[in-house]
Amino acid sequence: MSEQDTYNYRVVRQFSLMTVVWGVVGMLVGVIIAAQLTWPELNVGPWFSYGRLRPLHTNAVIFAFGGCALFATSYYVVQRTCHARLFCAPLAAFTFWGWQAVIVLAAITLPLGFTSGKEYAELEWPIDILITLVWVSYAVVFFGTLAKRRVKHIYVANWFFGAFILTVALLHLVNSAAIPVTFWKSYSVYAGVQDAMVQWWYGHNAVGFFLTAGFLGIMYYFIPKQAGRPVYSYRLSVVHFWALIFTYMWAGPHHLHYTALPDWAQSLGMIFSLILLAPSWGGMINGIMTLSGAWHKLRTDPILKFLVTSLSFYGMSTFEGPMMSIKTVNALSHYTDWTVGHVHSGALGWVAMVSIGAMYFLIPRLFGRAEMFSVRLINVHFWVSTIGVVLYISAMWIAGVMQGLMWRAINADGTLTYSFAEAVKATYPYYMVRLLGGFIFFAGMLIMVYNVWKTIAGSRAVDDAKIPAVALAHA
Ligand code: HEM
Ligand code: HEM
Repeated sequence: MSEQDTYNYRVVRQFSLMTVVWGVVGMLVGVIIAAQLTWPELNVGPWFSYGRLRPLHTNAVIFAFGGCALFATSYYVVQRTCHARLFCAPLAAFTFWGWQAVIVLAAITLPLGFTSGKEYAELEWPIDILITLVWVSYAVVFFGTLAKRRVKHIYVANWFFGAFILTVALLHLVNSAAIPVTFWKSYSVYAGVQDAMVQWWYGHNAVGFFLTAGFLGIMYYFIPKQAGRPVYSYRLSVVHFWALIFTYMWAGPHHLHYTALPDWAQSLGMIFSLILLAPSWGGMINGIMTLSGAWHKLRTDPILKFLVTSLSFYGMSTFEGPMMSIKTVNALSHYTDWTVGHVHSGALGWVAMVSIGAMYFLIPRLFGRAEMFSVRLINVHFWVSTIGVVLYISAMWIAGVMQGLMWRAINADGTLTYSFAEAVKATYPYYMVRLLGGFIFFAGMLIMVYNVWKTIAGSRAVDDAKIPAVALAHA
C-alpha cells in the first residue's frame, strides 16, 4: 500500500492540537482584558495595556484558535469526503508552519503597538504578505484535493469551506491594500468614508465567511457524523449555501449607521441584514433537524450536545444581528456592550462550541483511540461552557441596553439625565459578571487540555488510515 492510499492526518493533527493551545491562550487574554475593564489598575505599562491586549485577544481567538480549527477540519473533511489524500503534503506543511509564524508575529507586534488600526486586520504589511502566501497555499491544497477526488459528488461541507477560503483571500487582498512607509508602518490606500466602507465590507464578511461559512462546513460534516444520521435536507443545504454567500456580501454597511456613509448605502446594508435571517435560520434548522430520529443521543453524547447547542447560539446571534441592524435599534445598541454580548453569543456560543465539539470528535481518531480519555469530563466541559457563555452574554445585554438608555435619557429642560461616568459606574457589576462568565468558560478549556493530554499520552499517531478500497477501485 503506497502513501497515496492513506489520508494525510499529520497536518490535521498538528492544527487540531494548536486549536486547543491557541484557544487557551486567546481566552486567557480575553479574561485578562475583561479583568482590566473591571479593575483599570491592571493596565500596566504600554505593552500590557487594554488598548494593546484587546487586538491580541481578537486576533488570537479568531485567527489562531478559529483559524486552526478551520484548517484542521477542512483538511480532514475534504480528504474523507473526496476519498483522496491531501494534495501536495509539503505545501500543506507550509500552511501549518506559516500560519503558526503569523500567529507568533501577531503576538509580538501587537503588544509592541505595531498596527494598521483596522479592526480584525491590524497586522502590518510584512505579516499581511506572509498571510497571503499561506492562504494561496491553503487554496492550492484544498482545491487540489477536490480536483483529485475519487467520488464524483462534492459534499456540501466542501462548498462552505471552499467559499470561506476564496472569500477570505479576496477580503484580505482588498482591505489590506496599503502603502508602506517603514517596515512596521503603512497607510491604507483608501481614505475617509471609502476606507470605512471597505473596512466594514471586510469586517462583516470576516464574520460571514471566517466566523460563519467555514464553521457551517464543520456543522455539515460533524453533526451528521456524530448523530449517525444523514443531513436533514440536502436540497436545503444547497439553497442555504447560495443564499447565505450572496446575502452576506451586502450587509457590511450596518456597521456604519449614522455615519458619513450615504444614507441609501446604510439602508441597503440594513435590508440585506434582515434578509440574512432567512438563510441563517434555514441552515440552523437543517443542522438541528438532522437529529430527527436521534434526539435520544443528546442525553448521553456530550459531543453532540456541544455541536447542537452551538447551533442554538448561532440561531440566537443571527436573529439578534438582523434586529441590531435596524437603524432605530442600532441607535440604541451601537457603542454599547450589547454589541459585545452579540459578538460573544456568536463567538463563544457558536464558533467556540462547534470547534470544541469537532475537536473532541477528531482528536481520538487522529491518535488511534476509540474515544476521549473521559467522556464524563466532556460533559462537565459542556456544562461549564454553557454556564460561562450565558453569564457573559446576559451580563452584556443588560449592561448594553442600560447604557443606551442612560446615554439618551434627558430631563424636561433638555439636559442629560446622566453623565457618562454614571453609566460607567452602573456597568461595573455587569463587568464583574462577565469576568466570572469568561473565567468559567476559560476554566472549561483547561478541563479540555487535561482530557486531550490524557487521551494522547502513550497513544499512537495515526498515519496509515486507509482510503476506502471501493473508492480506489473507481479511481
Ligand atoms: C474566555 C473567553 C473570552 C473572554 C473572557 C472574552 C473577553 C472579551 C473582552 C473583555 C472583550 C472586549 C470588550 C470590549 O471592547 O468592551 C472582547 C472582545 C472581543 N472578543 Fe472576546 N472573549 C472571550 C472569547 C472570545 C472568543 C472565543 C472569540 C471568537 C471566536 C472572541 C471574539 C471577540 C471579538 C470579535 C471581540 C471584539 C468585539 C467588538 O469589537 O465589539 N472572544 N472579548
Ligand atoms: C444574520 C447574521 C448577523 C447579522 C445581520 C449581524 C449584524 C450585526 C450588527 C448590526 C452589529 C452591530 C454593528 C454596530 O453597531 O457597530 C454586529 C456586530 C458584530 N457581529 Fe454580528 N450579525 C450577525 C451574525 C453574527 C455572528 C454569527 C457573529 C459571530 C460569529 C457575529 C459577530 C459580530 C461581531 C464580531 C461584531 C462586532 C464588530 C465590531 O464592531 O467590531 N455576528 N453584527
